[in-house]
Amino acid sequence: MDKKTIISQLLSGKKLTPQKDIGKAFAPSNIALCKYWGKRDNELNLPVTSSLSISLANKGVKATITPIESNQHEFMMQKKLLDPNIDYLQSLQQFLQHFCFNKNAYRLEFDLNIPVAAGLASSASIYAALIKGLNDLYQWQLDAQTLSILARLGSGSACRSVYQGFVEWQRGELADGMDSYAIQLPIQWPALRVGLCIVNHKPKAVSSRAGMQRTVETSSLYSAWPKKCEQDLQQLKIAIETKNFPLLGKTAESNALAMHATMLTAWPPLQYATPQTITLMHQIWGLRQQGVELYFTQDAGPNLKLLFLEEDESLILDSFPEIEIIRPFNNIIC
Ligand code: PMV
Repeated sequence: MDKKTIISQLLSGKKLTPQKDIGKAFAPSNIALCKYWGKRDNELNLPVTSSLSISLANKGVKATITPIESNQHEFMMQKKLLDPNIDYLQSLQQFLQHFCFNKNAYRLEFDLNIPVAAGLASSASIYAALIKGLNDLYQWQLDAQTLSILARLGSGSACRSVYQGFVEWQRGELADGMDSYAIQLPIQWPALRVGLCIVNHKPKAVSSRAGMQRTVETSSLYSAWPKKCEQDLQQLKIAIETKNFPLLGKTAESNALAMHATMLTAWPPLQYATPQTITLMHQIWGLRQQGVELYFTQDAGPNLKLLFLEEDESLILDSFPEIEIIRPFNNIIC
């Protein structure tokens, strides 16, 4: 099945003319504690494994969508007009075509408070904000499950950015992916902290889409990944339910390192870490040896996200004065 057919099924019976002049929405960035790495269907972004993430409250993307009289879409980021030919707009434009019902074009304005394409899930929040913004413009009143499926068709991890808090993306079994969507876990953990440790703001050289495909096709360790993920997901759910922070931290860190191990054994090998990333890891491990409950996770980029609890905030800031601390359960925008 192709994307076009699925999208028209999901929107069947819905109005295809804008009901407002402008559609607006916010979607948070999300950081996976159990990663999505590998697709079983490249066209529909269907994952090999389920995954689990935490959304970043008010860190993410505000999208403003305006239908315009033109034969070309306009893209603005941080109030600046973008060249529509730049690399990372290509897949966004292709996706957008599925929502041009009357051959119309759009002006898409994205306001981000996270770096683009640096492993901070900017594309997840862009696609989720786009779908939520279209839902507002056309007044479709879609439920969260449908929004999540539509966002997934744009970028896999975007299906988790439809929600705040802890989110599980259930891999599903169906070939059309109608059972592959994210759900919000009904558990809050206000003391949890995520520290953004930015090593490099620059967009990555290899996209997660390309890196994932290369790993699935060539890594000798990839066959061990689905089982590892399944176990980690169960451990993370226990950790969240019982508020067992060492279990959450250890499982998330080990899951990220295992994902990066599959990349290192891909061919050509893939490594998103820079020397600075490795130095930071050793600093974290050193602090842990001294009894500090501090863990990290890393995505398709050199930046680390530190995981710790409110009670250790000032201690962590002493060692990492540059980090930005996110309180995932405070200052939430929906
Ligand atoms: O949805 P994508 O194609 O941006 O892939 C996201 C992949 C990771 O960030 C590395 C892991 C994850 O689950 O978010």
